[in-house]
Amino acid sequence: MKPVIMDVDTGIDDALAIAYAARSPELELIALTTCFGNISVQEATRNSLYVLEKLGKPVPVYEGAKLPISGSLKKAYARHIHGQDGLGNTFREEPQGHKAELAAAEYIIRQVKERPHEMTIIAVGPLTNLALAIEKAPDIIPLIGEVVVMGGAVTVPGNATPHGEANIVADPEAAAAVFASGVRLTLVGLDVTMQTLLSSGSLQKWRRSGGELGGWLAEMTEFYIGAYEARFPGIGGCGLHDPLAVGVAIDRSFVSFDRMRVAVVTEGEAAGQTVGSVEGEPRIEVCTKVDAERFLQHFLSRVI
Ligand code: BDR
Ligand code: CA
Repeated sequence: MKPVIMDVDTGIDDALAIAYAARSPELELIALTTCFGNISVQEATRNSLYVLEKLGKPVPVYEGAKLPISGSLKKAYARHIHGQDGLGNTFREEPQGHKAELAAAEYIIRQVKERPHEMTIIAVGPLTNLALAIEKAPDIIPLIGEVVVMGGAVTVPGNATPHGEANIVADPEAAAAVFASGVRLTLVGLDVTMQTLLSSGSLQKWRRSGGELGGWLAEMTEFYIGAYEARFPGIGGCGLHDPLAVGVAIDRSFVSFDRMRVAVVTEGEAAGQTVGSVEGEPRIEVCTKVDAERFLQHFLSRVI
């Protein structure tokens, strides 16, 4: 079992990723850390607590960054994709639990030092918390077991802008710092996540036999599929971005990689663009191919 911290901006695909991780025996989900992104950080914390309670998985939630490193939001929240509440307008009642005391970056530093070379960090929102942790305690860089990031679009166009993917556009400085840090990192970008589409048909099983949890996941995911259909008519499903990062942490054979240095454009209209190059250091593993069908079956077999 790999001990895992998930850094999330809980949105719909974050919620699906949390469910996938919580239900996978290969991973020991020990905590969530939250960041602004799809919604505000306070909403990300609230949604994370809500999702964990629905799953019956009582792990602590540490709240993190409200804003990017630069101090001002670089892009609007993604309520058009994730709903007003970030959960496809399925949020009903306040969760009973509360956030933990420590700030996200402090928690990451403490946990990595307590379990050197062991921790996997699955980061599926803007990279602000990780960048802050690395900036404050650079000695943790070689002590982090592995970072799996959902973010970037190295070989394909962006989604937040023609150039950039949402998590990187939201805080390009943070992504640039993390990618250049030398931490062991796998990048799960739109290059592969736009090939892992979940269709409405796949939600039938959740509705039929998944009980209350399955019904809720299906309702939320249907909203997300609707948002994808509105944006990309005829696409036939929603991108399982954040769940694929969890899939890669479970079983790297779902994807194949190219080792590249990835620079991030931090200024101008291309801010957030991820530029891969086979020359220069440090290099990270950029996922370039995915066995989409095998991953989808695995994801569906685990969540409900
Ligand atoms: C990423 O952006 C967010 O909207 C999703 O949760 C995912 O992490 C996809 O570009
Ligand atoms: Ca996310």
